[in-house]
Amino acid sequence: MNNIVILDCGSQFTQLIARRIRELKVHSEILPWDAPMERIRSASPSGVVISGGPMSVSDEGAPTVSSMLFELGVPVLGVCYGMQLVTKLFGGDVTSGKSREYGRTRISVKEDSSLFSGTSGSFEVWMSHGDHIDRLAPGFRCVAETANGVPAAMANPEKRIWGLQFHPEVVHTAFGTEILSNFLFTVCGCSPDWDLGNWIDIMTEEIRRKVGTDRVICGLSGGVDSSVAAVLTARAIGDRLECIFVDNGLLRLNEAEQVLDQYRALNLKVRYVDATDIFLGALAGVSDPERKRKIIGERFVRVFEAEAEKIRGAKWLLQGTLYPDVIESGHKGKNASVIKSHHNVGGLPEDMKLLVLEPLRDLFKDEVRTTGRMLGIPEEIVARQPFPGPGLAVRCLGEITRERLDTLRRADAIFREELAKWEGHSTVWQSFVALLPVRTVGVMGDSRTYSEAAVLRAVESHDGMTADWVRIPWEILDRTSRRICNEVHGINRVALDVTSKPPATIEWE
Ligand code: XMP
Repeated sequence: MNNIVILDCGSQFTQLIARRIRELKVHSEILPWDAPMERIRSASPSGVVISGGPMSVSDEGAPTVSSMLFELGVPVLGVCYGMQLVTKLFGGDVTSGKSREYGRTRISVKEDSSLFSGTSGSFEVWMSHGDHIDRLAPGFRCVAETANGVPAAMANPEKRIWGLQFHPEVVHTAFGTEILSNFLFTVCGCSPDWDLGNWIDIMTEEIRRKVGTDRVICGLSGGVDSSVAAVLTARAIGDRLECIFVDNGLLRLNEAEQVLDQYRALNLKVRYVDATDIFLGALAGVSDPERKRKIIGERFVRVFEAEAEKIRGAKWLLQGTLYPDVIESGHKGKNASVIKSHHNVGGLPEDMKLLVLEPLRDLFKDEVRTTGRMLGIPEEIVARQPFPGPGLAVRCLGEITRERLDTLRRADAIFREELAKWEGHSTVWQSFVALLPVRTVGVMGDSRTYSEAAVLRAVESHDGMTADWVRIPWEILDRTSRRICNEVHGINRVALDVTSKPPATIEWE
């Protein structure tokens, strides 16, 4: 199988480069910029991409690559920071911060180059850089430039090194796919051999080989990752996979029943644990969001452990870990501060002494979805919105009672039902109702009401890190609001959240 190694210098677009390459059916792998040469060699790359990054090449501690990279005998493509780094390493000049270029810029192709075949002579690309190249390194030719005369692309065909000052991976770059595809197929000589159908067969065999005659335990959440991991593993070892589905009493209306039915239809062997009383009992009187998360996380571990102990002879724990969770990124020591203690929930006991099986650890989320569809998993699971581990606990603001949860569930179901009727609903990343611990005055018929307020939240996002609120048509909002006030006892006012992330977060707690 062909493989392209992407050396990550910290750009927000690194994963996007990897996904675009895989969409072109060539496997790609992200390594940190300072990965040892043996590691790069052992990946047997057909080509190497050096990514963009937030620093200047002249900054102290800025990412760099070994000169041995250029002796590997495979083509190298520097993107943005990557192009500047190559220029510096080969003796050209890069100037910091004199003229900045962000966003769309028009470039003109000056010279026929294998990278630009199939593109037009002049087109728009997406730039995002503060530094620029003043003088190319000896041996490099400028093959495209911006209107300001700044090199937009360079080539050194003898050494098989190319550079792009813009981002071919973002959709705003015209011919971005053509340029990447030229690099893969013409320059690196790859063939399109990354095929998820094949991958499923290979992984099924690998699971069989690894697990042998052992038993495997899996915690199912109803989400796409654990579901795909389970169906794939069941394909390999049948009912030696034992799944545990913990109902924490914080799921949406009829969700536990629906999810269980779907799992059974997929022939998964599932143990259903109704732990509603345990969770709601522990949450009684608690309003603080972080305390809620902690309590739910701890109870989950205990309930799961107790159930897993009943499964005799289990040696493996199956987890739906994905590639973005295992990439060692090029951002060193710059991790964002913890805003919410997210990954406490759904996290499993560390001292369970089970071997971990992670069949999806090489896949991106979109590839997991495609794999799920190929395995016959229904759309309700494959295209399911992300749902937080602590569930409705962080959408039922303030104290959690059965009554308030019930109110929230019914309002949330109405919003989902109405939203599903809108043709634009596929743009929605997450949508839900949050119940506020705020009572407001209303009037219904001839009587005064004093009930809680609900807020509608619908956002679009690519990864949950940033998000914008969805412009839902007024008619849908109107119908949702009227139905909630009429049909749900306990809510007499509906508001709409029009805040992006940042400054807000997606969830209200
Ligand atoms: P925020 O609210 O931080 O959420 O913008 C970003 C994404 O993470 C989900 N989320 C959670 N997921 N445990 C989870 O497993 C949590 O405690 C948690 N809190 C938020 C949220 O739904 C969104 O997709």
